[in-house]
Amino acid sequence: MNNHHQTKAFKRYTVTSALPYANGPIHIGHLAGVYVPSDIYVRYLRMKKEDVVFICGSDEHGVPITIKARQENITPQQVVDKYHQINGDAFNKLGISFDIYHRTTAPLHHETASQIFKTIYDKGIFEENDSEQYFDEKENQFLADRYITGTCPHCSYEKAYGDQCENCGTSLNPQDLIEPKSVLSGNKPVLKKTKHWYLPLNKYEDVLSKWILDGHKSDWKTNVYGQCKSWLDHGLQPRAVTRDLEWGVKVPVEDSEGKVLYVWFDAPIGYISATREWAKENGKDWEPYWKSDDTKLVHFIGKDNIVFHCIIFPVILMAEGSYILPENVPANEFLNLEGDKISTSRNWAVWLHEYLEEFPGKQDVLRYALCATAPETKDNDFTWKDFQSRNNSELLAIFGNFVNRTLVLTHKYYEGKVPSLGEITEQDKAVIEQIKAFPGIIANSLDKYRFREAVGEMMNLARLGNKYLTDEEPWKVIKTNPERVKTVLNISLQICANLSLVCAPFIPFTAEKMSKMLNIKELLWDDAGRLDLLKENDLINQPELLFEKIEDETIQKQIDKLQNTKQQNIINAKADPLKPEISFDDFQKMDIRTAIVLKAEKVAKTKKLLKLEVDTGVDIRTVVSGIAEYFNPEDVIGKKVLILANLQPRLIKDIESHGMILMAERRDGSLYFVSAGDDVEKGCKIS
Ligand code: 2FM
Ligand code: ZN
Repeated sequence: MNNHHQTKAFKRYTVTSALPYANGPIHIGHLAGVYVPSDIYVRYLRMKKEDVVFICGSDEHGVPITIKARQENITPQQVVDKYHQINGDAFNKLGISFDIYHRTTAPLHHETASQIFKTIYDKGIFEENDSEQYFDEKENQFLADRYITGTCPHCSYEKAYGDQCENCGTSLNPQDLIEPKSVLSGNKPVLKKTKHWYLPLNKYEDVLSKWILDGHKSDWKTNVYGQCKSWLDHGLQPRAVTRDLEWGVKVPVEDSEGKVLYVWFDAPIGYISATREWAKENGKDWEPYWKSDDTKLVHFIGKDNIVFHCIIFPVILMAEGSYILPENVPANEFLNLEGDKISTSRNWAVWLHEYLEEFPGKQDVLRYALCATAPETKDNDFTWKDFQSRNNSELLAIFGNFVNRTLVLTHKYYEGKVPSLGEITEQDKAVIEQIKAFPGIIANSLDKYRFREAVGEMMNLARLGNKYLTDEEPWKVIKTNPERVKTVLNISLQICANLSLVCAPFIPFTAEKMSKMLNIKELLWDDAGRLDLLKENDLINQPELLFEKIEDETIQKQIDKLQNTKQQNIINAKADPLKPEISFDDFQKMDIRTAIVLKAEKVAKTKKLLKLEVDTGVDIRTVVSGIAEYFNPEDVIGKKVLILANLQPRLIKDIESHGMILMAERRDGSLYFVSAGDDVEKGCKIS
């Protein structure tokens, strides 16, 4: 393993972007986290004439796709066909310049994934293990974790999934659920033995530690390195890489009827099969892109994918034996929207295909705004107001304004011909030095995957030009010293030409327009920084406006649209069906009382839990309550509440919780304290 990555010279680049699941459209969170930065990186490499292949495609396996198909009464293939098309088109329109947008239902992918599994299998690396899994006898099939619901053992939420309780956030095993139910038939599933193949991640701990912890401490992002370190510090377990499911890549060994590869086994292999397909279509050899030491492999992903790309996929590659490992995995954090988490199920998102329809010709505005607020080091917020001001006060007021003024003046004074460079002043010199320095500064940020910083510097070059022009006031000087104006406009034009180069990775549609206006043939990164990009008497075309103002009404429309979504979510939330009848005696068994909250504190390492001390009038006791998302500890101290006081004590996160505080759940899921009113003192019985 090398740890001199910074100095290593690479001959070619394989750049991958996470394969989006083909069960829904792309939204701005995906774009800011993965696709915009990877596209910027690749466009920059191409401008440097590097040999690079940019890979993406649809991730078309996995349980959620089968669930969606079931809900819509269509086949999984129909689901993925639809979104493969929609997403491929949308990426293309935004100028995300994949060399191939492949898919994991393609035969070549099934072949590639099978081969890799088989190679590892034949080497005897997998561990075969029998385990007990839930089985639906009526539907005659094993149940994926998401196909089982039941009561959460931690918080008693009744609709927890087999892999996670969405109420308290705890990850679960299906067997943890109290009263498990099959989503398919509604019946209680039974446990049944089944065989699976496990990848022994534990055996790769040392080599992973050497590679990541020793080798990539300085060049991987701290969030990525930190997650890897935490996984490695906790120790790795063997991971099942097969599932009992019909939809997926069939397990290519005997005695594996009804089993497919785990979606996270086959999906990253999708990068390899996509590269193979691309090579086939373009008469190239795919292998150096995956097997040659002088290839730089970079995976662009969101933070929820880190373990798969930094631990599991590398172990698959090492186990297979002939592949290289990624040089970097620049994972981003999450983008929120107007202060709330983006959510597909709540339709809380800005969808790419809708944006493209509603903002025609404004691809670069979205690319710029998302890059400028990319969640690189922490979660970040997208707001329509910010989007508007990125356009109006930066792209339009600085970049567009500068380029336009320069070109208009060139036409006005010199019939569109580049004037000569005359005598240079001290100010000119300083500006020229900066022009020369910018490409290096931007490249340095890009090389380190700091795209926000890079795009900020790109705008700074425009700012430099804009200020230079404003300070020099050629429209005034023309009357007193026309020779001087030639020099000012020559330098301004060189800045425009430089801008058209360095902006190309970020806002490629704009770069294309500029290169047409300036008659620049090929945009090469190595040309940036030069002051003779345009020669004296070169002809400049008529300026075309690069950006236009985005009005308040347009933005308000988008904000209203989101507001409607919120409203709609509240209306749509279905009332829960009534529970089965109970007898009066059952009711009488409940001891509900008024109580006062004395103390409250957050339960460490949980999002939803508060530890409360309450006075019930008969005793003072501890109750753990899942309300922390809606209330701060200081908000609840002193509150009069209702408590179910004779509920059996339960351990929640190692705290003994004694009783339950009664809450009303609003339609949008938020909580409200049920109370007997202020006139009622503590300890009163409710009956
Ligand atoms: O999280 C996701 O959206 C996955 N579909 C990403 C897969 S990345 C790669 F492994 F294919
Ligand atoms: Zn729970």
